[in-house]
Amino acid sequence: MTSKEIRSAFIEFFKQKQHQFVPSAPIVNKDDPTLMFTNAGMNQFKDFFLGNKPAPYSRAANSQKCLRVSGKHNDLEEVGLDTYHHTMFEMLGNWSFGDYFKQEAIAWAWELLTEVYKLPQDRLYASVFGGDEQDKLPVDQEAYDYWKGIIDEDRILLGSKADNFWEMGDTGPCGPCSEIHIDLRPQDEIDKTLGRKLVNQDHPLVVEIWNLVFMQFNRQASGDLHSLSAKHIDTGMGFERLAMAIQNKQSNYDTDVFSPLIELVSQKADVRYGDSRETDIAIRVIVDHIRAIAFTISDGQLPSNNKAGYVIRRILRRAVRYGYTFLEL
Ligand code: SER
Repeated sequence: MTSKEIRSAFIEFFKQKQHQFVPSAPIVNKDDPTLMFTNAGMNQFKDFFLGNKPAPYSRAANSQKCLRVSGKHNDLEEVGLDTYHHTMFEMLGNWSFGDYFKQEAIAWAWELLTEVYKLPQDRLYASVFGGDEQDKLPVDQEAYDYWKGIIDEDRILLGSKADNFWEMGDTGPCGPCSEIHIDLRPQDEIDKTLGRKLVNQDHPLVVEIWNLVFMQFNRQASGDLHSLSAKHIDTGMGFERLAMAIQNKQSNYDTDVFSPLIELVSQKADVRYGDSRETDIAIRVIVDHIRAIAFTISDGQLPSNNKAGYVIRRILRRAVRYGYTFLEL
């Protein structure tokens, strides 16, 4: 599948399950003082989760442009050095506003990954929230049991609050989550080390692809958790990582999402991608950052010397710095 086909297959799958397609919100966030940029698919739905506004549909699906370069979710310094983080990325999501909950979210995620995208079942792992003393929250046994009905228990891992409790920021809607990870290593490496040992260990080929969040709480400024009046589903799948898995690549940058840009920058710099670690990193930094900057500007935020504009200027400068230092551009 091309990346375009991967994106439409996602939307189609959920449309068939009565989800309303909702376009991506702008990447620049003007309405929420807690956020400069859209950092997750759920931002535009925050008021539905909190019960501040009624949702016009009870199920939705979309592909959201996200930027993770400031605040709680910030990947900027990783970008380019590794092969699977981005400043801007697309997040494929399906949403339930007080409608279905854990059982359907888990079952449909599995169905889409293994039956539509045909990802190999023996390469997939699921993690489940293992509880947290400080927040007085138990293990998410319900999610564990749903997974147990689908996959072997040695493919289910219990995770800490850091990995398996999703929060939008310091305050706001949140809840336990169940992540799906894929092991893309060659078989001989898998024979030596089991994939489950590498989940959440920053291995570039054992990566999280989908996060299913079970929205149940609102985190207060005091740190307390208040239960929401209804339970919701917020899922987010990394589109570029999914493309890497489906297109059988070892890097997001080798998928058709990025390869035309990689080729263009390589030509301009007269450097072959793959020839050296330093120039490869610089090329990845530029192709990632140019996408982020272009989309952000087109959504209304120019680089400038303060606030959101300054964040964009910093991304631009990082790209320029790598181009200048390593590619003589
Ligand atoms: N909100 C979750 C995330 O951003 C799932 O969409 O990972």
